Amino acid sequence: MKYKKQILMALFAFVLFLPLSNMLGLTSHNDPIAFSEGTSLSFKAASNILQNKCVDCHSPGMTRLPFYAKFPIADQLMEKDIKTASARLEITKPMYSGESPFTPLMLARLEGVLRNDSMPPNLYLSMHWTGRLNYEEKTAILSWIGEEREKLAWSHDSAPNLKGEPIQPLPLHVSLDQNKVFLGQRLFFDRRLSGDQSMSCASCHDLSKGGTDQSRVATGIRGHQGPINSPSVFNASYNLAQFWDGRAKDLAEQAAGPVASPGEMGAEWSHVVETLKQDESYQKDFSALYPDQGLTQSTITQAIATYEESLVTGGSRFDEYLRGNKNILTPEERNGYHLFKMDCASCHFGPTLGGMSFEKLGTSQDYFAKRGSTLTEVDNGRFNVTHNEADRHVFKVPNLRNVEVTPPYFHDGSAATLEEAVRTMASVQLGKELSQSEVSDMVAFLKTLTGKYNGVSLQSLK
Ligand code: HEC
Ligand code: HEC
Ligand code: HEC
Repeated sequence: MKYKKQILMALFAFVLFLPLSNMLGLTSHNDPIAFSEGTSLSFKAASNILQNKCVDCHSPGMTRLPFYAKFPIADQLMEKDIKTASARLEITKPMYSGESPFTPLMLARLEGVLRNDSMPPNLYLSMHWTGRLNYEEKTAILSWIGEEREKLAWSHDSAPNLKGEPIQPLPLHVSLDQNKVFLGQRLFFDRRLSGDQSMSCASCHDLSKGGTDQSRVATGIRGHQGPINSPSVFNASYNLAQFWDGRAKDLAEQAAGPVASPGEMGAEWSHVVETLKQDESYQKDFSALYPDQGLTQSTITQAIATYEESLVTGGSRFDEYLRGNKNILTPEERNGYHLFKMDCASCHFGPTLGGMSFEKLGTSQDYFAKRGSTLTEVDNGRFNVTHNEADRHVFKVPNLRNVEVTPPYFHDGSAATLEEAVRTMASVQLGKELSQSEVSDMVAFLKTLTGKYNGVSLQSLK
């Protein structure tokens, strides 16, 4: 066959050319990017490494295409790589120059791949022999990541040597208008917000149950079984958006939902506003605190949101560790944290160990095939909001504060225990099987995250 010979020749040339091009450095180079004024030495070092070793896939438009990228299969591969890579981490020119900062999310993802040695991908390394990050380069990028985190307001209370950690302590005090907090608190516990006056927000977000109902799925008025697990209201103010699929942009928008939802509180807002208006003390408080608007749906939800902003649970044992009390954690708990940083903190980072990003459930293995039961509408996750196929089964990463007291776990409440949730995460998100001692150390660490509300540990309320 005529063609076969040509294909063999092409392959032969390719195999011969590859080492040659590697040795001669035949791939083209971008001109070095000028740094903005005032960038640190450690930033320059990190940026140079990223420009050298990551730009080909993570910076669309800046790619230095090697000669073989013009070959039919190679160019498709490269294009696909650039698309998937930059969807996860896009490094732009102003970021390389130091003009615009890397977000906490990007720093967490970067730290994740450095700790796991997973970037650049192996296939790329087989063609770019000098592409691998060496120990010095990894250390340089990691120490710059630490310096970036030091600048965040979040790490204000961390001990000086722990300001670069992916997790920061929660504040012990939040300053808010206390009168609005008290008003919001009354509303949060007020059953007149439901259609048959049987339920308040607290019915499903019980503060003595970690701000949840500790049930697989929520039960609304007249015993209506909801489709999804109740997340905690504690520390919800840190979330980038509210609900598992992020469909509410903030707490006030969120609070409007359950009141009018037929399967939750089943009320009509106009009716709720009229009922509360008949209560003189509410009338008085709303006109004092919201003089321009008085008592309306909007001020009701604003007051509830302010109350929720006060539901911050600082003072956990882990926070004391981050503030510098080294010996407060047992060796198992410290080891659990070490494992968590390696495997979990690229998604569960920040003061609440989550709430900062949307991630697919099942990045390594199909969670839903493992679970077995039929798919429901809520399993679509963020797809229900964006209608973008890439968002199917994508959920807001839940925060892990007080996770000890908020079973069962996951949006479907399918994991009854923390052990089970940790094992499932390891397998579906990382494709890893953890040993029994790894699981128990991680669980021991997660239990150190139980904080206090009004000075009382949520554990003792349970
Ligand atoms: C050959 C292309 C290629 C190169 C070179 C490359 N990456 Fe990637 N990178 C990818 C692809 C593809 C993905 C998406 C992987 C996935 O979703 O499974 C990715 C994902 C990532 C992510 C996101 C990880 C996550 O949490 O999902 C980070 C961070 C990252 N790369 C960092 C780097 C760094 C740092 C370098 C340079 C040292 C680098 N990459 C070099 C292709 C590349
Ligand atoms: C019938 C039980 C029920 C009632 C009553 C209820 N919730 Fe919820 N709440 C839920 C469920 C279930 C979700 C998750 C729904 C989803 O993501 O689709 C949720 C989500 C939330 C969230 C988002 C948290 C996060 O991490 O995304 C907040 C905040 C919240 N509720 C506050 C309230 C407030 C305020 C009220 C009263 C106005 C209230 N809830 C009434 C069950 C309830
Ligand atoms: C790629 C991102 C990602 C990684 C890595 C990851 N998680 Fe998660 N985690 C999520 C998402 C998304 C959910 C919510 C899934 C759902 O319920 O639909 C979640 C849920 C959880 C929950 C349940 C919380 C709750 O209130 O229901 C726990 C516990 C948890 N993760 C622990 C871990 C641990 C431990 C690791 C490391 C072994 C880990 N996660 C790694 C994204 C991630």
